[in-house]
Amino acid sequence: MPSRLLLNHHTAVLPAGARPGGAVHAFHQRLPGYAPTPLRDMPDLAAATGVGRVLVKDESSRMGLPAFKILGASWATYRALCARLGGEPEWASLDDLAAVVADRLGPLRLVTATDGNHGRAVARMAALLGLSATILVPDGTAAARIDGIVSEGAEVVVVPGTYDDAVTVSAGMESDRDLVVSDTSWPGYEDPPRWVVEGYSTIFAEVDAQLVGADGDDVVVSPEGVVVRAGAVVDVAVMPLGVGALGASAGACLRAGRQPDDGPLLIGVEPDTAACVAAAVAAGHVVEVPGHHRSIMAGLNCGLASMLALPAIRATFDAFVAIDDDRCRQAMRAHADAGMDVGETGAAALAGLMAVVDEHRVELPLPDQATVLLLATEGVTDPVNFASVVGRPPR
Ligand SMILES: Cc1ncc(COP(=O)(O)O)c(C=O)c1O
Repeated sequence: MPSRLLLNHHTAVLPAGARPGGAVHAFHQRLPGYAPTPLRDMPDLAAATGVGRVLVKDESSRMGLPAFKILGASWATYRALCARLGGEPEWASLDDLAAVVADRLGPLRLVTATDGNHGRAVARMAALLGLSATILVPDGTAAARIDGIVSEGAEVVVVPGTYDDAVTVSAGMESDRDLVVSDTSWPGYEDPPRWVVEGYSTIFAEVDAQLVGADGDDVVVSPEGVVVRAGAVVDVAVMPLGVGALGASAGACLRAGRQPDDGPLLIGVEPDTAACVAAAVAAGHVVEVPGHHRSIMAGLNCGLASMLALPAIRATFDAFVAIDDDRCRQAMRAHADAGMDVGETGAAALAGLMAVVDEHRVELPLPDQATVLLLATEGVTDPVNFASVVGRPPR
């Protein structure tokens, strides 16, 4: 099915202060297993899409999990615990932090709704902090994704209905003993989702560092395809949008303080059956795209955008492209052919770029020889589907 494009002629300037400072990155650097994820130069993908250069931020392994979501889940959990503690405690290791939390707050349970990755990340944080976790998933969630959450020691509850129904159930669960750490917002619940958005800023802090080159604009790439030094300027950035938290972070980090024409061009990608961020931008407020949403891009199966994420997205994104699952499969195969196995949602950014260059060149021309940053936000999280799409098991 052809993709749908929505252009967004934004005129507002997001204040420079909208970009989080260094505290978030400093926090992540204290976590076990933290390391910047690779920024890969992918000439095959540049050739396949006809752009100058494709740089892929590879989130297939982030602190031992197969997606970027732990960045938001960890910071939001930490800030929510600090709020309950009445301030930031002293801690050198997570064990110290866990001891302070146990001593001063007693047994606590973390709760969230998820399409898979955020819930697994919250479950991991609970395990690291000695807390219990209950994770709500919509029915139809792939068994491998549920197993992933269970492997973190969490209880998984399957909610009949959509992801949005699971969010509604989780919203009623906050209590003295239960801390809801959601990546989406609703009236009266805005702090944790704001911290989630802040948490994702570490991705862009890393990209900045990876793109700082001493001389010229030549990307220097290690034999493994990791960008070790570069001076490239990103002309276009493409990222998947579920509820929009990642998009809001990208907008704040890549565009805050910049005039509308300054670039980079920001493009959001959604499944054509769950394009709730584009619908909200077009309407000027959150509107429901009714489900059940069954795209293979499971992380993007959301019918309601996060109201908290919308202002930054509206002020910074240039376009939204809504794609079908065939386009996503094409991108998964192209990634795999280029030597990078990614999951369905992880391939969405490339799929969106392909849709733009194949179908929307006239409405949305990209700069000549553009350097394009793609966020490949997850590795393979459903190996059975991966094998059926790519024709071999994941490497
Ligand atoms: C792998 C992956 N990429 C992208 C997204 C979209 O992020 P957001 O919901 O913040 O828009 C998700 C959300 O679950 C995800 O799991």
